[in-house]
Amino acid sequence: MQELSTGRVIIVGAGLGALYAALKLAPRPVLMISPEVLGQGASSAWAQGGVAAAMDPADSAQAHARDTLRAGAGTVDPAIAELVTAEARTHILDLTALGTPFDRNADGGYVLSREAAHSFARVVRVRGDQAGAEIMRALVAMVRETPSVQVLEGVMATGLRVEGGAVVGVDVTLSGPQGSAPLLIRAPAVLLAGGGSGGLYALTTNPPRIRGQVIGMAARAGAAIADAEFVQFHPTAIDCGEDPAPLATEALRGEGAHLVNRLGERFMLAVHPDAELAPRDVVARAIYAQTQAGLRPMLDTRACLGARILTEFPAVAGACARAGIDPTREQIPVAAAAHYHMGGVAVDAEGRSDLDRLWVCGEASSTGLHGANRLASNGLLEALVFARRCALSIAARLEPGQEAAPVTLPDLLPGPVPDPVLVARLRRAMTEGAGVLRDAAGLRRCLREIAAIEAAQPDCPALLNMTATASLIAAAALMRQESRGAHCRTDFPDTAPEGRRSRITLADALALR
Ligand code: SIN
Repeated sequence: MQELSTGRVIIVGAGLGALYAALKLAPRPVLMISPEVLGQGASSAWAQGGVAAAMDPADSAQAHARDTLRAGAGTVDPAIAELVTAEARTHILDLTALGTPFDRNADGGYVLSREAAHSFARVVRVRGDQAGAEIMRALVAMVRETPSVQVLEGVMATGLRVEGGAVVGVDVTLSGPQGSAPLLIRAPAVLLAGGGSGGLYALTTNPPRIRGQVIGMAARAGAAIADAEFVQFHPTAIDCGEDPAPLATEALRGEGAHLVNRLGERFMLAVHPDAELAPRDVVARAIYAQTQAGLRPMLDTRACLGARILTEFPAVAGACARAGIDPTREQIPVAAAAHYHMGGVAVDAEGRSDLDRLWVCGEASSTGLHGANRLASNGLLEALVFARRCALSIAARLEPGQEAAPVTLPDLLPGPVPDPVLVARLRRAMTEGAGVLRDAAGLRRCLREIAAIEAAQPDCPALLNMTATASLIAAAALMRQESRGAHCRTDFPDTAPEGRRSRITLADALALR
């Protein structure tokens, strides 16, 4: 394998955590590896709701932490919930200073949306559903102006090199359909910030490239993975045949939108006292049940928003327009879709994995904040808090005087790209076997199918990263013989009295295949 060496910190990914960490590391030299043009293809840019933070004087970080703990169904780490919610306000002010145009009231205060399972309206937003896109726009502009950050665009990380228990570099290939044989880039520290795994499922709200590759890379290198079985399904993906499925933000339900079925029944009233604003896992299962029963669940925004949806939720309105739906006159068909992976690479409060010189932040990590059911809009918040913590921790470990010469890639030789037929098979297997409802027989079938898919293209590292994460999800789901939060076992419907987090390696998962 060809290789080269750099004194720069490598950041894998180009979403919120990656950009924010690069800025917080400045002026230390950074090499950011982005599979697409910076700012495109990251889940963060598609986040509609916003960032949860106790900005209202009547609200408090303690109340935010309590809601996070309650939503997480007994597996949130209380110390992590406290530290993240306590830092939230500082990061909102920082993002504002960096150029994010958060919506403001006439008196200058932040406009705050209400989302499910929050006891307070506490989600800062931009033009209704544009928070992710606008935060990313501001940070991409800052990163482009930061001389210490070199960005490799159109390049994808496919593996980690471990020597003596420490991560010493990253294998990269070209990320387009041409692919290339991996090149090893050696570096003093590696931060993984490349997103979650939603695209391992056939129905997802995640951008097309987000298919568990980063978690898989770390797992293949030997890192422990925590809470892999906890995959959050968003109740209201717009069911219009698009892949990925566009999101209809929970903030619409915060505005009073109702969920109804084709019989006109407002079915959430019979499911939970908070109806449409019940915890996300409860609403997702109810939507799934309606879909399975052929009752065609729909979101009705007409009475609460009317024509305001067109100006106040432009992303949702745009998706409806593409699908030929007029939400001012019609209901929006919805389905539960894989949305956020609560599990990921196990990290401590500084974002350190159990491999030396490997840090992880954002959705690829598992910090203990989300437990079995992430509270809405805590995802971007966690990425911000841990990106900064990782940057501080990395800076403290770096030798002084790292060289900053730009990295020039040699000509890369052609290499394998994942066979799209195998990827489609994998996504089907995960939806059928490790989806909203799970049981032992389905999970075992899913694990066998993952093994067969892997055996069909064993020389493709990008596919092996996906199958590694898929195996971890299915195996951890098989091991957890209870139902908790988003993890629902039809053969083990009860919740154990004691909540515990899971922690497995890829070897543990492979032993179950
Ligand atoms: C949404 O806007 O409904 C999604 C927000 C989130 O997943 O945090």
